[in-house]
Amino acid sequence: MIQWYPGHMAKAKRMMQEDMKLIDVVIELVDARVPLSSKNPDIDTLANNKSRIILLNKHDMADQHYTKQWKEYFEAKGYFVALVNSKSGEGVKKVQDIVGRACEEKIARDRRRGILNRPVRAMVVGIPNVGKSTFINSFVGRASTKTGDKPGVTKGKQWIRINKFIELLDTPGILWPKFEDPAVGIRLALIGSINDTIINKVDLSLDLILFLKEQYPEAIQNRYGIEVSDPIEDKKSAAKVLEQIAIKRSCLVKGGEPDFDRAANLLLEDFRSVRLGKITLDIPKEADKS
Ligand code: G4P
Repeated sequence: MIQWYPGHMAKAKRMMQEDMKLIDVVIELVDARVPLSSKNPDIDTLANNKSRIILLNKHDMADQHYTKQWKEYFEAKGYFVALVNSKSGEGVKKVQDIVGRACEEKIARDRRRGILNRPVRAMVVGIPNVGKSTFINSFVGRASTKTGDKPGVTKGKQWIRINKFIELLDTPGILWPKFEDPAVGIRLALIGSINDTIINKVDLSLDLILFLKEQYPEAIQNRYGIEVSDPIEDKKSAAKVLEQIAIKRSCLVKGGEPDFDRAANLLLEDFRSVRLGKITLDIPKEADKS
């Protein structure tokens, strides 16, 4: 089972607790390939009473069919949801409108109290590598200005004015995923969110082969041109597929034996760079293709 608890986790959580007091709306990034596995349930307690937005980031890498269902899933739970590719900027501009909609109640409340034109304050949160910095850079764009310390706001906090309605805390909140379910650890390792040095890549690639066989049966054949006719039911039979990939791609050690380590690296790299296709690892139960 993959376990990974960085020491600075508790400190980051405390900081986020403090930052939460300053904001109106939480913009939570999840990875569209693993919308549940990349979500930390602590955020529900931390962000209690705040407006909530979920961005299905990296949606350019995920299976559209499932992304649509995940969007509906989160909307049904009361979140405002958007599909975003922070790297290209696609969908990022729309987030401004969504922030406005998510904060409608707060704006109306302010108005009733005679507070006019007070910008809403937002914070971006998410697990490491989900794309927080990339999103902030894209969202902020060139038009914004850093506003610096403000009276009445904790000293040292930097706010970025997105427009006259929105201010964004310039440091994102970092959360860590929960690894109680071993499948979560495996999926996060597959997308490359866990330091590869603590992972057995051959084992991980066998997990990937088993998953693909179940959900994307054509992916390996299409990429490597190998015939996978035997049933793949366990890691032993998955290893046979890895062996075929090794042979096909000339990943061999001296003496011509298959080099499983290199083949595993190749398969994982192909998956992470979307060369196996747009693949979602968290399958909404009701959406199971099989
Ligand atoms: P973090 O702050 O949450 O830790 O994540 P960060 O923005 O550093 O992004 C992590 C990686 O994910 C970066 O790739 C970034 O380019 C990529 N990324 C972020 N959003 C998207 C997206 O919507 N689509 C795609 N395809 N990629 C995204 P990297 O390999 O570390 O850097 P780079 O080579 O892309 O510069």
